[in-house]
Amino acid sequence: MIVTYAEIDGFKNLKGVSFAPDPKYNIIVGANAQGKTNLLEAMWILSGCKSFRGSKEKDYICLDGQRMSSAVKVRDSVREQKITFEMAKGGNSPKLIHLNGVKQRGTRALFDVFKCIAFIPDDTDIIKGSPEKRRSFIDMAASQLNPMFVMHLNKNNAIMNQRNALLKEIAQRNASADVLEIWDRQASKEGAVISWMRNEYVSKINEICGRLYNTISGGAEELSLEYRSNVYKPEDFEKPIGEEAEELYYRRLRETSEYDIRTGSTHSGVNRDEIAIKINGVSARDFGSQGQIKSAALVMKLAQAEIYMKKSKDAPVVFLDDVMGELDENRQRFVFDIIRDMQVFVTTPNESALLPEIKGKILRISGGRITEEEENVSSHRE
Ligand SMILES: Nc1ncnc2c1ncn2[C@@H]1O[C@H](COP(=O)(O)OP(=O)(O)OP(=O)(O)O)[C@@H](O)[C@H]1O
Ligand SMILES: [Mg+2]
Repeated sequence: MIVTYAEIDGFKNLKGVSFAPDPKYNIIVGANAQGKTNLLEAMWILSGCKSFRGSKEKDYICLDGQRMSSAVKVRDSVREQKITFEMAKGGNSPKLIHLNGVKQRGTRALFDVFKCIAFIPDDTDIIKGSPEKRRSFIDMAASQLNPMFVMHLNKNNAIMNQRNALLKEIAQRNASADVLEIWDRQASKEGAVISWMRNEYVSKINEICGRLYNTISGGAEELSLEYRSNVYKPEDFEKPIGEEAEELYYRRLRETSEYDIRTGSTHSGVNRDEIAIKINGVSARDFGSQGQIKSAALVMKLAQAEIYMKKSKDAPVVFLDDVMGELDENRQRFVFDIIRDMQVFVTTPNESALLPEIKGKILRISGGRITEEEENVSSHRE
């Protein structure tokens, strides 16, 4: 899929930005703090995902402004659709989302309309950060593949909030411990599904990461990902999901329930899962060099893109924020080879750091405005 038109105003420092992107390469050039990342972010939020750099929604609006709007037209193999996202300061319903002029209740419908993948310098947190970072990478990637997954995650979160509130009530003797069982039964249903889905996605991405990392490291190193369920053993996933799986989950929740009551939080289940990432058989988080961690994070994102490609005929749109400049020519070529059929938006303070064959549209950005648009037609374009 491709973005055919974008229009942004009042999003952070961006003012009156509108442009028709190149179907292939778009190079966003500007000095530091001019709005390059903001431009990617303003488009990204239309994919139904939260900000890729963790910005809060209220911070989308320009500090000295009253409202923001961001709109894109996205074309896939079937049709062109328009997504708009508007927000004003104050008021009760802060954000207003329209798809083809129809008001949306949430962001769920957008997942299917606009698929994108962002590569950002902070991606290394997937490896270096807490288990939560790895879970959310897997969850987000799997959700874009199967929107039903989001529903299960949301349900589980709601159940966990209720359960944790109840734990405190029980500790204060305001509720009976028996009530917990009702929640544990419900949590088991959702937890089992989430575990099976995570396991499936991790084994899929593991295969691709293994191959890609082997190539990027010139055949010298091996990357592997392994899902470490808090409830199940790897062999449990050999059987199809069913009552037995729910029962196991339920029993695990019961095992820690006394401890849970004492501490006021849940210590078992999918919220305690981990994804083990290893390079040459040892933990990348504990032993990886900076270059290895950077390459591994890049490969995981590329694998995510490849899985998309296989699943749907519509390739995702790719956002590369400030990551190309750090890569040598060989690694840049490797990246561009994998995303060759996708529309790409790449930011850089210095266009000469990019591969010479990356030509398309140059958007110069300064003080939150596009100051210049240049067509720079690629010889590679079909
Ligand atoms: N809500 C906001 N209102 C106004 N300005 C904002 C808001 N949020 C962020 N900014 C400003 O937007 C400017 C551009 O930020 P952005 O991250 O897009 O820069 P950049 O061009 O990507 O720079 P770099 O090359 O350093 O990554 C920054 O100066 C930042 O302070
Ligand atoms: Mg930036």
